[in-house]
Amino acid sequence: MAKKFPHSYEVCTCKHVSLGEIIHSIKERDANTLEKIGDLTDAGTCCKCCQDSSCDIGAEKMELYLTQILEKFTKR
Ligand code: FES
Repeated sequence: MAKKFPHSYEVCTCKHVSLGEIIHSIKERDANTLEKIGDLTDAGTCCKCCQDSSCDIGAEKMELYLTQILEKFTKR
């Protein structure tokens, strides 16, 4: 999952937020909810399509979602 994406991978295309920035907000700044990630990075605060797969439409399908990243990096 998140492992095979480079840290420069743009998870949130609206706000141009990279995977690296999101991981940093989770690990270093204790973002443990989508809201906190949004507050810290702006990711997921526009169309919200990067949050989960619920608004995927055909070719516009995103490959990595904030919910997946959050789940992976908040596991203990
Ligand atoms: S892609 Fe992240 S808010 Fe639109």
